[in-house]
Amino acid sequence: MKKNLVVLASGSGSNLQALIDATISGKLDANITGFIASKPGIGAISRAEKAGIPSCVINRTSFETENEFANSLLTAFRDLRADYIILAGYLIKIPVNVIQKWESRIINIHPSLLPDYGGKGFYGLNVHRAVIRDKQKFSGCTVHIVNEEFDKGPILAQRSVPVLENDTPESLAARVLEQEHILLPQTIQQLIKKTFP
Ligand code: GRF
Repeated sequence: MKKNLVVLASGSGSNLQALIDATISGKLDANITGFIASKPGIGAISRAEKAGIPSCVINRTSFETENEFANSLLTAFRDLRADYIILAGYLIKIPVNVIQKWESRIINIHPSLLPDYGGKGFYGLNVHRAVIRDKQKFSGCTVHIVNEEFDKGPILAQRSVPVLENDTPESLAARVLEQEHILLPQTIQQLIKKTFP
């Protein structure tokens, strides 16, 4: 039986696209049964719709309490018959009770070599700015299991890239993103097939 993935994102959705493409090519043997956007109008929604994936918006700001937000996520995960939840550029904190109920089944991709450049404030170009400021020779991306500690869950896999002398945060982000598109589908495939090296 194929596993069901539910993907959450907040941006352009190029990582979502990499997952869609991998399911079509057969590199990822799974069904994406749903897409959840953190806000309306983001590029990822059009990518999901184009691929025929049911999508919805669950916007944290439209709930009065964290608990109502959590319940809405939990209901969606159940209705979409999710086996795994994939955070593919999702910028909202997942409520702790959702993480506990879905222990070891929520996966995140982060654009740095964790544990470096993770945690509060390290998202988007901020990550790459800090890497360049610190004159690091390498950066990369990490796929990890989400636990209660932000960006600190068990690491499943990483890919690295060189940081070049004339890099800008944007050029480094683009080099890392290329690797994210390889790493995310590959790691999920290994996870669902239990074929980690
Ligand atoms: C990626 O760098 C991802 O690692 C980060 O946000 C970016 C999302 O890009 N968390 P996209 O929306 O998948 O294009």
